[in-house]
Parts: sequence; C-alpha cells; structure tokens
Amino acid sequence: MAAQISSHRRPADSFTTTSFRIHEDAPSTEDTEMNESALNDDPDVDPDAEADANMLEDDPQDSDYSDSDDDTTASTHVLQDMERLQNCLPEFRSKYRLIKRIGEGTFSTVYKAEDLQYDRYDNSWDLDRDAEKWAPPPIKGSDGDVQSQPPRRRRPKYVAVKKIYVTSSPSRIHNELELLHVLRGCKSVCPLITAFRWTDQVVAVLPYFRHADFRDYFRNLTVPQMAAYFRSLFTALASVHKHRILHRDIKPTNFLYDPVACRGVLVDFGLAEREGYDGKPCVCHDDPATRMAKLRPLIAGGAKGGYPREDTRPSRRANRAGTRGFRAPEVLFKCTEQTPKIDVWSAGVILLTILSRRFPFFNSVDDVEAMIEIATIFGQRRMHSTALLHGCMFETNIPTIGRSGFSFEAIIQWSRDQPKAKLPEEEKVAVEFLSRCMELDPARRISAEEALQHEFLRIGLDEPAQAGSGGSNDEDEMDILKV
Ligand SMILES: Nc1ncnc2c1ncn2[C@@H]1O[C@H](COP(=O)(O)OP(=O)(O)O)[C@@H](O)[C@H]1O
Ligand SMILES: [Mg+2]
Repeated sequence: MAAQISSHRRPADSFTTTSFRIHEDAPSTEDTEMNESALNDDPDVDPDAEADANMLEDDPQDSDYSDSDDDTTASTHVLQDMERLQNCLPEFRSKYRLIKRIGEGTFSTVYKAEDLQYDRYDNSWDLDRDAEKWAPPPIKGSDGDVQSQPPRRRRPKYVAVKKIYVTSSPSRIHNELELLHVLRGCKSVCPLITAFRWTDQVVAVLPYFRHADFRDYFRNLTVPQMAAYFRSLFTALASVHKHRILHRDIKPTNFLYDPVACRGVLVDFGLAEREGYDGKPCVCHDDPATRMAKLRPLIAGGAKGGYPREDTRPSRRANRAGTRGFRAPEVLFKCTEQTPKIDVWSAGVILLTILSRRFPFFNSVDDVEAMIEIATIFGQRRMHSTALLHGCMFETNIPTIGRSGFSFEAIIQWSRDQPKAKLPEEEKVAVEFLSRCMELDPARRISAEEALQHEFLRIGLDEPAQAGSGGSNDEDEMDILKV
C-alpha cells in the first residue's frame, strides 16, 4: 500500500493545520541505525562514509551555474534508476516528472523533478511564488492601441525528490521526516513538501533549491559575501537550535547556497537529533569545582604514556554521527551530553575553509587523527583542558604539536602561502568570529542566536540587497531529459 506522509502538501482549497502522519509498518528486520551504530566503537556503518561519498562523487551538487554535461547525458543506469522510481510509486508519474539526478549520498539519491500538480496545492513553501505574479506591461502598438499578448505559460516548478535507500532503518527515516516537519516554516531550512511510501521505499519531496557548488566559489568570496553566507546559515541554525534540535552534519554539501541571490537553505536532517537524546550526563555540564572533585582520581593517576596492556575500563559510548573534519572536539572526546554548539563548530570549520582557501581543511582518516589536527592548531595545553572537561586525558609526544599552538590568523596566512602578509582589517573581524565559533569549550562557544548579533554577520546589512531574484530559470528547461 502506498502511503502519503503529509506535511506541507495540502490541497489549495483546504488549508488546515494537519499534523505529521506516517503509516506505521510492522517492525523491520533491518536494524542498521545510524545513531546506534555511531554509539558503537566499531560501527557497521561508518558515519564518515557519507562524507566520503559526498566528497568523492564526480558531481555531487546540481549546479545550474555550471551546466555540466552530466545533466544532459545521464548514464544509462541513472535513467534506469529514474524509470524504476517512477514505476514503483503508484501515480508518481502523474505528479512529478523526473529530470535528472542531482545528488547521491550514502543514504539517498536526490533527483530534480517538475511538480506537475503545483497548481492544485497550497505552495506556501515556495519562496518565489510571488515573483510569478509580476506581469510585463501591455505592449502598445504604433497607434497607441494596447495589443493583445499570447497567454504566458507558467514557468515549470521544480522539486527535489529524495529517494531514501531502503537499507535505512524505518526509525531513522521517520526521525528525518519528523524533524523536518517540526522545523517547517523555519527561515533558511528547506521545508518538506510531502513524502510517499511504497512498501519499503520512502521518498521525500522538497522544494528544489538552485545552488552553486561550494568548490566553485569559496575561494573568491569577499568579506561581505562571506557575511551573507553565514548570516543565512546561522539563521537556519538559530531556528533549528531554538527547537532544541542538533543537525549534526553541518558541511557545505548540506547547506545549499545561491551566491547570486545570497540565499541558502539547510538540508539533510538524516543525522539530526533532539537535544538530550542520549540522556547520560557528562562532567562538562558540572560546575568547575564539582568537576574537579570528580576528576581528582583521574588527574592523580597522571599520564603514564602508552596504552594499558589489559584495559579493563568500560569503553566510552557517545553519538559520533557526523562528517569527518567537521566534528566538534566534544564529539571526538565522546561527550555524552552534546549540545547544538556542535553545529556552531562545524559552521566554524566552513569559515576556516573559506578564509584559508583550502577544502577540505581537515583531512583526517579517523577521530584520533582529527584530534591531532585540532591539537596542532590549539596546542597541547588547551587540548589537555578540553579533554578534562569531558573526563578524558589528552597526552601526546608528537613533536609538531606545540604547547601553545598557533593563532587562527597565523594558520590562515600559512594556508594561503602568505605567512608574512597581514590580513586586511575586514578579514580580522571574520577571524575574530571564527575564533568564537571554534572555541574548544562548548559552553564558551558562541551560540547561533548570539552569532547573528556579531559584528561580522552584520556586515553588509545596511546596504541595498544584491540583484538576483533567485527564482526559477528558464535554462532549466534545457537540461530536461525525457524519461
Ligand atoms: N532541496 C534541494 N534542492 C536542490 N538540491 C538538493 C536538495 N536537497 C538535496 N539536494 C542535493 O542532493 C544532495 C544530497 O542531499 P542530502 O539531503 O544531503 O542527502 P544525503 O543524506 O544523501 O546526503 C545535496 O548535497 C544537494 O546537492
Ligand atoms: Mg547530505
């Protein structure tokens, strides 16, 4: 039986506040659960796999800015997959016309499609619907008479159809759809229009958001353009965090940004969770005196170097879901009481990438290497106190990790191969903001709400908005594939 999971998809004439509904299947035998596996030390599903897939795929972003050949010469197997999807969901063909594949991750394949029944539904999710209301003035003939014009054909309306792999657990899929439903109406968060299920196949339908490939523009952003990017990202984060939801996977491929319209939307709530989901306390939430009292035995034991031969200590379990290189230190130290601040750290990593003009900035193969990378910047002393915050010890004899580390300014100059060139004043504001986002202690790290008030994110606010409607473009028609 096909089930429609309702969210924003309401008939145009019956706008009522429907709640999120999903048809419940009998419990599945398939139990690979992202968050659970992330709790294991040796997960079957590596959370990093998603990152790898995103970074290695040839054309992970649909970019209408760089009309790639891939759009018009979709491989036979993509066409076959599209055909299979159209056939597997009853009535899908009458609702959507699949155009091309625009993304592929570990958990889903995303297609661009035309919404064939747009006019039948309430489309309050459509940011550009008002742009359609504009009509050109009537053309006057030489005698001054108004000439009749041929009726204007409505531009096609596009959606993103996210086919969630059947190997994803039902609870994971439910979680993603439910959180998207909770976040409906939040600025800069991509809304869920509707979703369908046919046996084990779930498909989410989202507004199609035109965006550019991060790798094509991140090196050339001016400071006001950076500010516009992060204003949009932090607007999304502030509303997600207000709902006490952690996104857990902030990175460029999950924030679709249109640099012309200066507009972005946050997507991919596949790893998102509610704050306090783990439910186990961590000493980082204690006041310093209580924490020190609890940690005294650990500190008294001191660091002896090396690993115990027979380590009988229970292994620490915490949610590590996320993408390599973007994980906050508290995630690496397996803090059991993670907060929305983990997303602020990841957003900071994006800013570091932009300022240093290096992508990916961090390039570790595992969490230990990730700690080494962070320690190289921050130095042993600060890493040691960060570890203690979460009840861990951090000791190293790696010679490249100094006691005090380096300033962000030095790291950025070095990354740009300009160790001697001074950063322009304007960029210093961005660097100061960066240091507030990449603060090792989550309690001292800036919140998304506070970030929106920071001087950096206020740059360009008083200037007139940049041209570019961000609306749908007719060139989209050119890359339509008949399937
Ligand atoms: N609403 C959308 N509009 C345009 N492209 C999208 C949209 N949603 C996703 N995509 C594209 O598909 C890719 C994968 O989508 P995402 O939701 O991140 O799935 P996954 O869980 O597989 O990573 C994105 O990086 C983006 O390129
Ligand atoms: Mg993704």
